Amino acid sequence: MRAPGDRGGDLVRWPRRIGRIGLIQYEGTQTRPSCFQLEPVMSDLAPPIALETYRQQFPALNNKLYFNYGGQGPLSKAALDAILESYTLMQQHGPFSKKALESVTAQIGLTHLAIAQELGVSANTITLTESVTAGCNIALWGLPWQKGDRLLITDCEHPGIVAAVRELSRRFGLEIDICPVQGTLNEGDAVGAIAERIQRDTRLVVLSHILWNTGQVLPLAEIIAACRRQNPDVLLLVDAAQSVGVLPLNLAELDADFYAFTGHKWLCGPDGVGGLYIRPALHDRLQPTFIGWRGICVDASGCPTGWKQDGTKFEMATSAFPLYRGLQVAIEAHRQWGSPAQRYQRIYSLSQRLWSHLQDIPSLRTLRTAPPEAGLVSFQVEGQSHKEWVQVLENWQIMMRLIADPNCIRVCLHYLTLEAEVDTLAEKLRQMVQSKV
Ligand SMILES: Cc1ncc(COP(=O)(O)O)c(C=O)c1O
Repeated sequence: MRAPGDRGGDLVRWPRRIGRIGLIQYEGTQTRPSCFQLEPVMSDLAPPIALETYRQQFPALNNKLYFNYGGQGPLSKAALDAILESYTLMQQHGPFSKKALESVTAQIGLTHLAIAQELGVSANTITLTESVTAGCNIALWGLPWQKGDRLLITDCEHPGIVAAVRELSRRFGLEIDICPVQGTLNEGDAVGAIAERIQRDTRLVVLSHILWNTGQVLPLAEIIAACRRQNPDVLLLVDAAQSVGVLPLNLAELDADFYAFTGHKWLCGPDGVGGLYIRPALHDRLQPTFIGWRGICVDASGCPTGWKQDGTKFEMATSAFPLYRGLQVAIEAHRQWGSPAQRYQRIYSLSQRLWSHLQDIPSLRTLRTAPPEAGLVSFQVEGQSHKEWVQVLENWQIMMRLIADPNCIRVCLHYLTLEAEVDTLAEKLRQMVQSKV
């Protein structure tokens, strides 16, 4: 059986036109939601590098089946080399020399640019952070909260973000409302469920663009519009851990207020570099919580005189700057390999392929009853310990993760994934079901 999107073989051959991806419809599948900012119609361009060759640059992909991109992406040899070169250069210049500091300043600027290009915004809207969580915390703690303000969060957010919201509520006397979006995975209306819980005092909605547990893609543009219709003053903080590097994005058009992401997952950058997009109109309203030399202006005597007037206002101090170079190289490689739409198209087709295979395995149930819309496929196996399964698979060098709520196994499909890997995984799972591990 050929799965939807199977073009046969692992070397990607792009269709003559992939068209506006929102219009593509595979047999037996839904059309994609209209939540993505789409690229113009693609031409006949093929990616310059065959996937098999390209993948050889990733040491982590050479000896295992890797399906954990939503946890951490693999680093390419080029990114690793760039990091090492950058560290070496600092030592050659002399750490803290004028040349080294100029180089650091240049790397900060280039990293803003690389990220901004990928997200469709200008570089001055980006704050460099070390993780998704750091970005969320900048927005959460930087708003002018008052006792009694309400904050709405979905029931599918990451524990680190939930904990930050709870502590925020304890310190400032906020009311937390929880929106049950998990139940809208297969039926129901996520937009309505969120919008109907917005009250007059709701100041902030915290939600993920792609739910990290079930893989559901929330129709963010619609949600933003619906929330603002309910309360024009409400702000939205988006956890973009699972969407950056997956969906073609144009944040300037999407108009989210805060969009927090990391480079170390789907972008395959080094761990320790992430970012936060802040809608320009909010720049002055948000106050920095952690403060240091990177976010301030100083006078001739070094005295602080005010905040920087761009995203660096929320950057703090010394970071592992050579890692920035690694993220730039990682992003550049993606861009050379294919446009965001091409990359997403492949992720989408591979996820559908796996999902289709899994439908044929008895006692295995994908959480989503319809084909997936992005790179996460979560499933449960009747009567089996998912924890044990993940461990057994890891022993066989097949990497994926356990999710606690809902209890399931999550598989991540990247554009780097091969069709043959998807097929092997499905076959392994079938054998495991048959032999009951
Ligand atoms: C939805 C979501 N939010 C936050 C995080 C935490 O990411 P980070 O370690 O970059 O803060 C993750 C990590 O898996 C995630 O999936």
